[in-house]
Amino acid sequence: MKRKIITTADGSQTLEVEELEETYHSRHGARQESEHVFIQMGLVPALVEKKELTILEVGFGTGLNAILSWKTAKQAGAKIHYIGLEAFPVTFDEVAPLGYAEGGEEAAFFQKLHEASWEEEVVIDEHFSITKHEVKLEDATLEQGVVDVVYYDAFGPRAQPEMWRLPLFEQLFEATNEGGIFVTYCAKGQVRRDLASAGYDMERIEGPPGKRHMLRGRK
Ligand SMILES: C[S@@+](CC[C@H](N)C(=O)[O-])C[C@H]1O[C@@H](n2cnc3c(N)ncnc32)[C@H](O)[C@@H]1O
Repeated sequence: MKRKIITTADGSQTLEVEELEETYHSRHGARQESEHVFIQMGLVPALVEKKELTILEVGFGTGLNAILSWKTAKQAGAKIHYIGLEAFPVTFDEVAPLGYAEGGEEAAFFQKLHEASWEEEVVIDEHFSITKHEVKLEDATLEQGVVDVVYYDAFGPRAQPEMWRLPLFEQLFEATNEGGIFVTYCAKGQVRRDLASAGYDMERIEGPPGKRHMLRGRK
């Protein structure tokens, strides 16, 4: 996949996959989207109930959601076990210029995140450990009932319709804890209905700047 760096409306950068005409984050604002959809609507409500959490991210990509999650966990005095699934990993050299790490400590974290070995748990600090799996979601074996927050950050249904199907949502529902949260930037009616069929109690909530809605589910 050929990727290039683009600047989004909030001034933050992301990657664009030229052949899919898809970006890794919203063109309306990469950082704002991650902060709203995954952190404010997913992680923050989960932290109200628990200070030690397992997050499963589908589409680990640049690691933007991961670094924002670590910063949030540090501020909350919490501990996150992060599981990142990624079918087509990017290298640290590709993502370092995106500017997601501000300052020395963040830069060190971001580098460790990307250089962490795959297929094993790597403890980065007292707030964060990560297990990255180089696998397609459809081929992944997920432990049942352990995930507190699912970050569903696949490419959109236009570019990757196969990622927005009921069997995958059922697989994720099985992996989710009772009370666990599922968040995605996508607000499509069919996706909402399929997530509800998989078992989640779904709500359509306010989206990030530039997008009216997003979806959130609870098990
Ligand atoms: C919208 S981007 C994700 C952005 C990422 N969360 C970030 O913050 O950079 C979608 C990601 O899903 C990955 N992906 C594509 N097909 C996949 C599959 N079948 N299973 C898991 N990941 C996949 C892509 O390589 C890409 O990294």
